[in-house]
Amino acid sequence: MKPFDIISSSPDAASLTRLLDLCFGPGRHARTAERLREGNRAMADYDFCAQSADGTLLGSISFWPIYIGQSPALLLGPLAVHPEHQGVGIGEHLMQTALAAVDAKRFPIVLLVGDLPYYERVGFAVAPPAVRLPGPVDPARLLVKGGHAECADLAGLVRPAPELC
Ligand SMILES: CC(C)(COP(=O)(O)OP(=O)(O)OC[C@H]1O[C@@H](n2cnc3c(N)ncnc32)[C@H](O)[C@@H]1OP(=O)(O)O)[C@@H](O)C(=O)NCCC(=O)NCCS
Repeated sequence: MKPFDIISSSPDAASLTRLLDLCFGPGRHARTAERLREGNRAMADYDFCAQSADGTLLGSISFWPIYIGQSPALLLGPLAVHPEHQGVGIGEHLMQTALAAVDAKRFPIVLLVGDLPYYERVGFAVAPPAVRLPGPVDPARLLVKGGHAECADLAGLVRPAPELC
């Protein structure tokens, strides 16, 4: 039996804050990706979490509406798995389940800042150099997933798009 369940809902705010502090540390609000969450709202339909049988929060994923230039898209993140439960597939299950739920007609592109070796297994690739974030980011960690045509032509500044929620 799988030691976790993937649930279609967001965790309670206090549990989520504890998990994110554990996974990313106190400096997490200074990250450039955070600029895309300010004044924005997570897409409630695409919030998923992983729980143990007794309801303990083990992991979480969320998505935020953005524009990349003129193209509607989603920012993936944060994706976080409790340090004591990493390496058993929770992160990958969260991503596969959540990405399968995304309406690709509304949001043909998903963008994130993360490590290519981890995310390429679910189809992410380095974004074209013309895609810019509102702050510093290592271009090798700026990743996109979508159809080839959509991704190849991507360009412009990435900004929050709460009106797409
Ligand atoms: C990254 C994270 C979400 C992965 O979750 P997880 O549940 O441990 O991942 P999975 O069990 O699905 O996958 C584990 C595999 O991914 C690999 N992996 C984990 N993090 C990786 C990384 N940053 N780069 C490359 N590979 C990575 C592991 O080595 C393992 O490889 P294996 O399957 O060959 O043994 C989790 O480690 C975490 O929360 N880290 C801290 C927060 C973070 O960095 N989040 C992502 C920021 S964008």
